This record gives sequence, structure tokens and C-alpha cells, in this order.
Amino acid sequence: MLTESRDCLVDRFGRVVNYVRISVTDRCDFRCVYCMAEEMEFLPRSSLLSLEELAQIGQTFVQLGVTKIRITGGEPLVRRNVIKLFRDLGALPGLRELVTTTNGSQLPKMARALRDAGVRRVNISLDSLDAEKFRRITRVGDLRKVLAGIDAALEAGFERVKLNAVILKNRNHDEVVELARFAAGRGMDISFIEEMPLGVIDDHDRAEAYYSSDQIRQDLEQVFTLIPTTESTGGPSRYFRLAETGTRIGFISPHSHNFCDHCNRVRLTCEGRLLLCLGQEHSVDLREVVRSSPGDMGRLSQAIRDSMSIKPKGHDFDLGAQPVILRHMNVTGG
Ligand code: GTP
Ligand code: 5AD
Ligand code: SF4
Repeated sequence: MLTESRDCLVDRFGRVVNYVRISVTDRCDFRCVYCMAEEMEFLPRSSLLSLEELAQIGQTFVQLGVTKIRITGGEPLVRRNVIKLFRDLGALPGLRELVTTTNGSQLPKMARALRDAGVRRVNISLDSLDAEKFRRITRVGDLRKVLAGIDAALEAGFERVKLNAVILKNRNHDEVVELARFAAGRGMDISFIEEMPLGVIDDHDRAEAYYSSDQIRQDLEQVFTLIPTTESTGGPSRYFRLAETGTRIGFISPHSHNFCDHCNRVRLTCEGRLLLCLGQEHSVDLREVVRSSPGDMGRLSQAIRDSMSIKPKGHDFDLGAQPVILRHMNVTGG
């Protein structure tokens, strides 16, 4: 079924798509154990969409009613000249929210420029406050750089800085209270995330590392009072407010509290593949469209509208089995 409307994307299940996550690179300066294998082969630069092509696709989505664009990676801020893309998208009338998710390492030098380009909120990944544990989870990451990045983001005056922590049993599950305290102490929200099985990662057992959102909530409730809210940022987090600080705690629980029924988003990989679901392979090749009909916004727009007919109902993640989805998380930026 195709949607009739010119300015609103609706899928077969009546879900309105108003949020696009655009991955600008699969590269990253970290190698988080839940995201990548230790040895990764990255895409050749020639297969990536140019910044102009990415901007053109972003603009077409906005014309189709998309109000929120999140720039992701890999690590989006390692892509050369990426600020230009932020500026081009930030200038689009109709785009209500330009946001990004980053590992924070480049923020000391880029936070101000992002804010000036019109980025309203940033989400920064932070899985541990212990330098040794942080290095073990990211394999190579330097905690000090990320903490400096968080400071830079807070100084740059974004409307909101949120932390993301993927919680893994026996790696960082004992840090949830400390992480919540750290975030609250700086006026930041924090989301705790259940790991999703994307791509094969030999040295990491996902079933063994599972730590549910309900367990995290119980751990937090030993110390804080969590007040349920109906607040939403248009993302998958279920939010609570900490009575003690007023800041928000989010839970992203693909396993224990599936949120696919309310899915409002699609993803563009850095090669121009439009993925209709993070946990499935249904996709449309938008690179072929932009390259075979350069400047033809009509064809691009039609291809995006048609893609709504193959958006699947949801994911089928199974932590106990071999991953069905072979692409690693760095290809989609989550
Ligand atoms: P906010 O706009 O602040 O709500 O951000 P967000 O949660 O939409 O984005 P972020 O990039 O911070 O993603 C946090 C986590 O949510 C990551 O682990 C993503 O992989 C996960 N996530 C986002 N969208 C989806 C989705 O559609 N399905 C699944 N399974 N996970 C998702
Ligand atoms: N499962 C859940 N979240 C993941 N992220 C990366 N890989 C995974 C995974 N396998 C998170 C990062 C970042 C966000 C974009 O996705 O930590 O915060
Ligand atoms: Fe890099 Fe983010 Fe993947 Fe970690 S989760 S390796 S920071 S892309």
C-alpha cells in the first residue's frame, strides 16, 4: 500500500514516520564490545554518500513531514567536514529538531560549532565512570576525553545533553547508581539501554551479558525515588523523573518492553541504504536513486514514500541465538 499524502509518511500499520536517523560514517575511534568486532573492516570512502547527497536526502525527508533528524555514525564527528552537513540541515525550514548521538571524544573541539549549526540536543554514550572499565568496554577509549566532551557540551548551551549507557552484566551493571548520580549532578538525563544483538562479536557473549531494565530500575530504587512520566522525546526511551533531582532517567528496553508498536523512525546508512527497521533487513537503495537521477527530488521523494509499504512490524531479537542481522551497530548508529 502506498500513502496518498504528499507531506506525511505513514506505514502499513498506520505509524507516522517523522524521525530519521542518518549515519554519516561507519568509522569510529572506539571499538565498543557490544557494537563492533575487535578487527573491523570499514567501508571504502568511495561507497559513502557525499555530504551534499546526505543533505539532499535529509531535505527530501523534511518535505515529507519529517521533523526530527538525528546524525549518527559510527562516530559521526570523525567524518571530515561533517559540520557542513549539520549547517545545511540546521537551515531547513520545517525541521524542528536536529540532534546527534556521539561517543563524545570530539566534543571538546566541536561542541560549539554543532550548537552554532543549530543542533539542539546531543546524546553522549557513557558506559562507565571508571577509566579501566571504560577502556575494557570501548576496547580503546579514553574516559578523560569523553568527560571533557561532556563538559564542552554542557558549556556550549545545548537544550539538553543526555547520556546513554548500555548496561552489561558483570561489566558495568554495578555502576547504574553512580551513572545516574553523575548525570543528575550535572542536570543531564540518562538512558539505560538493553544491548541489541547486531552482528557477530566473537569475544562477547550477549546472553550472558543481558541485564534487564527492570533490574536496573530496582537497583536505582534502592537509592532514588523514580516517578513514572508520559514524557517522550520521540525516541524509544520510557522516562521516569528522579524525585530527588528532577532529572530524567530513561529505559530503552528492546527485549523487556518492546516499543515497535510506536515506531516513528527509519534509518539511512552512510552508503545510502534506507533501512525500515533496525532489527530487520528491509531496505531501499537511495544512493542508486540520487546517483541515477541527480537533482530529481521527485523521484527521491517517491522512492521514500514507496518504502513505507515494506516497513516491517518490528524486530525479532533473540539474545540466545546467533544474530540474524549480520550488520554491526556502527553501520546504523543504533
Ligand atoms: P532521544 O531523541 O533523546 O530520545 O534519542 P534516541 O533514544 O531516539 O536516540 P539515541 O541515538 O540516543 O539511541 C539510544 C538507543 O536507542 C540506541 O541504543 C539505539 O540503538 C536505540 N534505538 C533507537 N531507535 C531504535 C529503534 O527503532 N529500535 C531499537 N530496537 N532501538 C532503537
Ligand atoms: N545494543 C544497544 N545499544 C547499542 N549502542 C551501540 N551498539 C549497541 C547495541 N548492540 C548504543 C551506543 C550509543 C547508541 C547510538 O547506541 O552506546 O549510545
Ligand atoms: Fe563507536 Fe558508538 Fe560503536 Fe562505541 S557504540 S564503537 S562509540 S559507534
